[in-house]
Amino acid sequence: MAFDFSGKTVGVTGAAGIQGIGFAIAKKFLESGAKVFLCDLKEQELEKAREQLAPLGEVKAYVMDVSRADSVEKVFERAEQELGSIDVFVNNAGIYPQSMICDMGEELWETVMNVNLKSVFLCSRECKKYMQEKGGVIINAASFASLLGSAGSGAYAASKAAVYSLTKTLAAELAPYRIRVNGYIPGVIETGMTAGVIDSKGKELVEAIALHRLGSPEDVANAVSFLASLEASYLTGTFIEISGGKLCVQNPDFPWKQK
Ligand SMILES: NC(=O)c1ccc[n+]([C@@H]2O[C@H](COP(=O)([O-])OP(=O)(O)OC[C@H]3O[C@@H](n4cnc5c(N)ncnc54)[C@H](O)[C@@H]3O)[C@@H](O)[C@H]2O)c1
Repeated sequence: MAFDFSGKTVGVTGAAGIQGIGFAIAKKFLESGAKVFLCDLKEQELEKAREQLAPLGEVKAYVMDVSRADSVEKVFERAEQELGSIDVFVNNAGIYPQSMICDMGEELWETVMNVNLKSVFLCSRECKKYMQEKGGVIINAASFASLLGSAGSGAYAASKAAVYSLTKTLAAELAPYRIRVNGYIPGVIETGMTAGVIDSKGKELVEAIALHRLGSPEDVANAVSFLASLEASYLTGTFIEISGGKLCVQNPDFPWKQK
């Protein structure tokens, strides 16, 4: 089902990579009638993404470092000036560095926390300013690492567990302003972030998924579009897993071998 976002403005962070989840989310909202602003650190990729999406509707591209308050504040101000309102905001940007916790430098730890977690605080604080009169929707990228530890990427897991908690607190604190706050938990989605692990362990990963396939960025975009829609108007403080049934059962490969 396609939802109608005509007259709405949607911001998406981490939207520069045309193979990434943020780009697919932006595309889905444009196809559903919204005006969209793409935010990312990578200026050249951002401009390419904007050019590619421009035939679908009104789309702007703003360089934003999600971990810096001054950068976030400037972009929100500009987006509202140029697009008239901010109705939906997707905190999608994230980084996934690999390191065992005790081998990790302090600087990398701080970068992960700033990009994955502080970003949600900074952008949600701006969302309240711009959404509090008319209401709005904030949607945050969580992860299975929000729910479980993750050996080899523990700082990522800690940051995403905190995003899970922050989403729930924000849902309560912003409810009086009719701002809903929800999140999404992607399973294994084929993007630049997962390319390395898919290359080395693709078959194993697929066998651990009930539906026996990896997810696409479009699978995630469909769920995010639902969370932003009027049909989800009683959902706040909640998460949708988009995983093809990852971790829904032990031994998900067994039924495929029996078939
Ligand atoms: N791909 C998956 O399987 C998967 C699984 C679980 C969670 N997620 C989450 O979904 C989100 C999107 O993941 P993806 O796979 O599309 O990743 P990706 O690496 O393809 O895209 C992430 C984007 O974030 C941008 N970014 C990084 N640091 C930034 C900063 N400081 N300011 C602004 N932008 C910045 C990058 O430039 C990039 O365009 C992430 O939060 C990720 O943790 C993805």
